[in-house]
Amino acid sequence: MRHYLQFKDLSAEEYDYLLGRATLIKKRFKNYEKYTPLFDRTLAMIFEKASTRTRVSFEAGMYQMGGSVVNLTSGDSQLGRAEPIEDSARVISRMVDVVMIRTFEHTKIEAFAAHSRVPVINGLTNEYHPCQILADVFTYIEHRGSIRGKVVAWVGDGNNMANTWLQAADVLGFTLHVSTPSGYEIDAKVAGVSNQACVKVFDNPMDACRGAHLVTTDVWTSMGYEAENEARQKAFADWRVDRDMLAVAQPDVLFMHCLPAHRGEEVDADVIDGPHSVVWDEAENRMHVQKALMEYLLLGRMG
Ligand code: CP
Ligand code: NVA
Repeated sequence: MRHYLQFKDLSAEEYDYLLGRATLIKKRFKNYEKYTPLFDRTLAMIFEKASTRTRVSFEAGMYQMGGSVVNLTSGDSQLGRAEPIEDSARVISRMVDVVMIRTFEHTKIEAFAAHSRVPVINGLTNEYHPCQILADVFTYIEHRGSIRGKVVAWVGDGNNMANTWLQAADVLGFTLHVSTPSGYEIDAKVAGVSNQACVKVFDNPMDACRGAHLVTTDVWTSMGYEAENEARQKAFADWRVDRDMLAVAQPDVLFMHCLPAHRGEEVDADVIDGPHSVVWDEAENRMHVQKALMEYLLLGRMG
């Protein structure tokens, strides 16, 4: 049994396979071809933070594959009344076939996984967001071909998205240019990447974007960090992705943002709504890659 808690849980070879399956599964969906290999299987989703994309993509994806979904939040389950996470894992995993969790500390999802009889998927923790980067890599490849050897520029917070991009650079063989305000750097220990050759750090976000094939950013204040919002608004003021940053990147640079976005904060409207932006494909692709992921975790390799 395999879990998907961090991007580095799968190998480059497995990603090749998985992204190939996602291509096929997406094609079937676009052609209105029924594909229901998860008939009779149930996904439990546990949300301790808000969500639009993760909720809709997992729920719609599971139904499309013939399965069904149970949605839990801390507010409407015993999770919010201090039932131990280990006990919740033991109980829930006796009744369903796969569990997706969005929560705060990563240690919580690890504790759940350690006591689960079924695969557990990380739908975002404070530290990582692997399903999102899976969709982002898939979207890059769809638009531009292989990501190996390319340069991805991360502008903004050294957060869950940044940590996961770093793991992806390590696993898939591309370079991550990182520019964060001081005090908001990526913590190498949290990112958990031993190969420092895949990352270059820049003080100036403009320098990070120079020559990049993909420029990407995220909100200045992630869920769970709202108390720091005022300080962050000040610290991040020069880390807004604008037209000038894209102008020094590759001429065919792509712009991505995991969404939700705040136009005029971390990104200018003419960038996110402009010709380099692929954010809507990126959001849609969450569903296709997660269908491939659930197929892989539950059924193994097909054919
Ligand atoms: N990108 C992402 O995970 O979006 P949601 O918070 O809406 O799920
Ligand atoms: N870094 C953001 C991503 C939201 C999808 C957060 O954790 O809130």
